Amino acid sequence: MLSRVRSAALWGLEAFAVECEIDVGPGLPGFVLVGLPDAAAREARERVWPALRNAGFQLPDRRVTVNLAPAERRKEGASADLAVALGVLTATSQAPPARLESSAAIGELSLDGALRGVRGTLGLADALKRAGSQTLLCAAAAAPEAALVPGLRVHAVDSLTQAVAWLRGEELPETRAAKPDADGGEDGDLADVRGQAVARRALEIAAAGGHHLLFIGPPGIGKSMLARRMPGILPALGPEEALTVTRLHSAAGLRPPGRGLMVRRPFRAPHHSLSRAGLIGGGAPPRPGELSLAHRGVLFLDELAEYPRHLLDALREPLETGSVWLSRAAGTVRFPARAQLIAAMNPCKCGWLGHPRRGCKCTPTDLQHYAARVSGPMLDRLDLQIEVPALTSSELMAASSGEASAVVRERVLAARDRQRERGALNALMPTAALRLACALDAHGQRLIAEAMDRGGLSARGVHRALRVARTIADLAGEEIVTTMRLAEALQYRAYETRRFVAR
Ligand SMILES: Nc1ncnc2c1ncn2[C@@H]1O[C@H](COP(=O)(O)OP(=O)(O)OP(=O)(O)O)[C@@H](O)[C@H]1O
Ligand SMILES: [Mg+2]
Ligand SMILES: [Zn+2]
Repeated sequence: MLSRVRSAALWGLEAFAVECEIDVGPGLPGFVLVGLPDAAAREARERVWPALRNAGFQLPDRRVTVNLAPAERRKEGASADLAVALGVLTATSQAPPARLESSAAIGELSLDGALRGVRGTLGLADALKRAGSQTLLCAAAAAPEAALVPGLRVHAVDSLTQAVAWLRGEELPETRAAKPDADGGEDGDLADVRGQAVARRALEIAAAGGHHLLFIGPPGIGKSMLARRMPGILPALGPEEALTVTRLHSAAGLRPPGRGLMVRRPFRAPHHSLSRAGLIGGGAPPRPGELSLAHRGVLFLDELAEYPRHLLDALREPLETGSVWLSRAAGTVRFPARAQLIAAMNPCKCGWLGHPRRGCKCTPTDLQHYAARVSGPMLDRLDLQIEVPALTSSELMAASSGEASAVVRERVLAARDRQRERGALNALMPTAALRLACALDAHGQRLIAEAMDRGGLSARGVHRALRVARTIADLAGEEIVTTMRLAEALQYRAYETRRFVAR
């Protein structure tokens, strides 16, 4: 007897419907699985058989062939376990098939027949709805995420037994969609930060225009503190963005059970000891890395000089294109990677170079080596390079607190509205559009020429400075980019140009 049960599988970020065809026919008792499954799916037999037995069902005494279609697509994971088990039961007349006609099932079975949620449930449920399924059975932990898909009826089941009871006519409540999740994992208000007017200004510009930002300064002056407050001054994710970001986190297995769409921009702060796959993505099956987990949000690289050079260089292309491409024998996988970079570092190895009260103990060689740890092309991509000074005691003890995040956020949103009218965030504006959006007068052009000739600013550096100048003008609500705005933008590249001159 043949039965068909619909499920879904994941490959990278791509989710697609899978038809599980189960044939129970003559031949020696056995179980054959076809349809290019990966190791986890191949182990399905090792899970499905004990689950059936331990739930009290009869194992077929004939030959069982399971085909996961489409056969030519790679599939990862154990998401089809429940569908395969239900197919075996309907093919052996232990459960009625009627309710499976317009339904699908996803979930991994444990040996005792309990059902577990799987990674990427949001994408899987979405693919099933698109493929025409009206009802979905899935694990209770994953059900509120699956129910985010509009128009899909989701029933949470704890076990194979409960799923079979539903097939036999028992009613199950419909799971409600989880509420939007505004918990980004990062909080703290800018009002907590004392002094550091220039760094605060740079943070606001970076937030407004989507620019990459580098803080350079001695230990304990608020660099990390400022960076962590970035999500609090950024707009919430749009509906499409929220879906993609949530799917990325779900595909990485990072969504806590019962949480809804992510609406706050993600903030990721990976340690410098992470692997290339951890940063960029990788593995088999392929999973998104920290860069993609920061998609539409912030990737914070604290102690930038501690990251191995090859890691930083691996970031360059994805930062430019907004995508990570992973080549696999089974085909190429793409993960979105449009993240905003915030980096922080000390000015030298000992940390105290340029500090008014503490002496730097580094040798000239130390200084050279330290500066060389961040490559020129990487530095070039950091539009705002801000030297953050040590705090004076009166600044730290000042009674008045700084401006609150909510106030700064209002200005950021207004500046972003102006950019939307032009089409794109300034950091992402096509180079061809720069000439019009940042038209300069003769004085402004002279300023640029000087920065290139004397400061060694690269052509890319000029374009980046123009974008930053455009953002500064947007924050001020100005139509044209004045020389004053351009001068401020150029000043934020002082670290790079000084380093160039020093060489
Ligand atoms: N500008 C500031 N305003 C208020 N508190 C501050 C400020 N700077 C530092 N602090 C206090 O010092 C602590 C350390 O600051 P933070 O971690 O931001 O330093 P950092 O500049 O990142 O240093 P490091 O180079 O060591 O990473 C903060 O948790 C805070 O309590
Ligand atoms: Mg720090
Ligand atoms: Zn030093």
